[in-house]
Amino acid sequence: MANVVVLGTQWGDEGKGKIVDLLTPGFDIIARYQGGHNAGHTVCLRGRKIVLHLIPSGILHSGKLCVIGNGVAFSPSAFLKEAAALEGFGGSFDDRLVISRGAHLILPYHPVAEKIAEERKGAKKIGTTSLGIGPSYEDKVARCGIRVGDLLDLEVFREKLTLNIAEKNALFQAAGFPAVDGEEVYREFAGHAARISKYIGDVSLLLHRKMGEGKSVLFEGAQGALLDIDHGTYPFVTSSNSTAGGVATGLGIGPTRIDEVLGVVKAYTTRVGSGPFPTETQDDRGRLISERGNEFGATTGRPRRCGWFDAPAVAYSCRVNGIERLVLTKPDILDVFEEIPVCIGYDYKGSSLSLFPPEPWILEKVVPRYRMMKGWKTPLQHLTDRRRLPAAFLDYIKLIEDEVEARVCLVSTGVERKDSLLFEEELEGVVDLGRVKKDLV
Ligand code: GDP
Ligand code: IMO
Ligand code: MG
Repeated sequence: MANVVVLGTQWGDEGKGKIVDLLTPGFDIIARYQGGHNAGHTVCLRGRKIVLHLIPSGILHSGKLCVIGNGVAFSPSAFLKEAAALEGFGGSFDDRLVISRGAHLILPYHPVAEKIAEERKGAKKIGTTSLGIGPSYEDKVARCGIRVGDLLDLEVFREKLTLNIAEKNALFQAAGFPAVDGEEVYREFAGHAARISKYIGDVSLLLHRKMGEGKSVLFEGAQGALLDIDHGTYPFVTSSNSTAGGVATGLGIGPTRIDEVLGVVKAYTTRVGSGPFPTETQDDRGRLISERGNEFGATTGRPRRCGWFDAPAVAYSCRVNGIERLVLTKPDILDVFEEIPVCIGYDYKGSSLSLFPPEPWILEKVVPRYRMMKGWKTPLQHLTDRRRLPAAFLDYIKLIEDEVEARVCLVSTGVERKDSLLFEEELEGVVDLGRVKKDLV
């Protein structure tokens, strides 16, 4: 079967967790390739809500192998906390979870460095999750990072830590921040090493071998394409490649191994943190979306900014990811609206733009041009037959498909697995439908 990337096409929180969990039965391996515990992927299982941050959202299915690639920024304490919270779901994962030895660690000085950087930016702050993700990737690129594999030899770890602590503390003191106690960090991480060393492995080799045996992989994106370090709305982005290009480098596989990229897209738009957001709606309608969609960050609890569907933004995302098939989520949140605006282009300095400009200094000044769509005013949640979907909703889907030049192949209408409409013809050859449908309970 195909190896498929499932990633977000907007600014995150599109519902990736629900979709990855839903599609997991159709794959053998679920792999995270970037990001860290800044991600918050929600899965709801018969009324119980589970939020995955670092561990792939396939973990709840017993028997599925889950891997964390070298492209991930890895916090051992976040991992251990999450692993403990997962006890009782999907059975033990001691023998089905592997962490790449090449993943970079998040150390206690990283959140401190982030706090200093954000404070210095003042009003121009990025509004990060404050978890040390950016500074961990900064050290990676500066070639002074410490990797998960370094925990396998505590002498190596100590040597690298000592060098880093001296440098970081000099910076912290200059900025008026207290120094970090290197010995304390060493002891904490020696403890983590004892608990996580059993999971550390060569993810690239493992995937190579498994794919050679005919096993299929679902690659799970974190964040969203518009938060990608290269292709997002820089600098209001995260510090990794959330786009499909990150899959190969973030796992140590060749791009030829990727058969398909599924783009998860919310029927409207949300964003957490600072940065441009042309279709943001702060009136009563925006508040209604926020309330109905429960739009609060799954990681930080911050309210998510809400707005209408931005077709040029999603079309851009489809281009940079090679997306031809979309998974549409949360249209049920729009059930109550008489009319739903969809942005189909922008006006900028007297001329019209049909393409998404990722530069914030342009995006901040564009005025969206909207097509008014008729609301369907029908609860979508329990509709399981594609032929019974309201005509106005089918028009909404058609407009999205035409504007972004990709086909919708799955519609999610609620938090549970069963709240899902699989468009079987469009999914043929992409996922093993038989295996996915068996778990649709
Ligand atoms: P992720 O980061 O992309 O995995 O998304 P989050 O989990 O941060 O946010 C998506 C939220 O929407 C979660 O609370 C999900 O349970 C919920 N959700 C996902 N799909 C649907 C849907 O189709 N309808 C509704 N009403 N909620 C959904
Ligand atoms: P999931 O995987 C939404 C945002 C932060 C901030 C910016 C940079 O659940 O979709 P960082 O801490 O990564 O340096 O913050 O990115 N951000 C997310 N927004 N969903 C996420 O993850 C996010 N991960 C980071 O709010 O604006
Ligand atoms: Mg999320």
